[in-house]
Amino acid sequence: MNEAIAPADDSTQPMLAPAVREALAGRHVVLVGLMGAGKTSVGRRLAQKLGLPFIDSDHAIEESARMTIPEIFAQLGESEFRAGEKKVIARLLGEPQQVIATGGGAYMDPETRARIRDRAMSVWLRADLPVLMRRVQKRQNRPLLQTADPVATMQALIDKRYPVYAEADICVTSLEIPHEQMVQTVLETMLAFLADTAPPPAESLAP
Ligand code: S3P
Repeated sequence: MNEAIAPADDSTQPMLAPAVREALAGRHVVLVGLMGAGKTSVGRRLAQKLGLPFIDSDHAIEESARMTIPEIFAQLGESEFRAGEKKVIARLLGEPQQVIATGGGAYMDPETRARIRDRAMSVWLRADLPVLMRRVQKRQNRPLLQTADPVATMQALIDKRYPVYAEADICVTSLEIPHEQMVQTVLETMLAFLADTAPPPAESLAP
């Protein structure tokens, strides 16, 4: 997996985003990572740079259920939420190319991971516990964190999920820096990965 932590200067590489868009060759970009990793805020800006639509899978689920995520958890339970999440992400992956921010648990599903592998480039936004906690404390909209000890809950999620998130194509450390710089680092890491994995030119396949 390609990893990066260093932020970079946005203004020096105006062709970076177009180069990434071309190298994606129509594949979606899927952001994975824990609650508070910055998938939505980074994803929205990344989409803007790439000239692609942006969609947040949690919003898509809320729209089709006509309920908020906390309402779905409270009234239908987590397993119904997971079933809906899986369906919605499969649908989004069947749409034209876009940047998709997934809810933190979505990538844990093996079939969803396989679909993402087939149709998208996956980007894990990896953040440390204090960064995640600072961000999620701003809102009370995460049912999984409504526990007696949300810090311990988040740590348990890190322990369980990080080895699975590590299957993503690239990992970028989510830092408390301006979103623009994060996006720049994501684009650079994407391009490095895509350059490494680009299919060979057609003439090299000739007999
Ligand atoms: C969840 C993360 C949330 C949302 C739901 C469950 C999880 O999305 O899907 O509350 O299992 O980690 P965000 O990661 O966008 O907060």
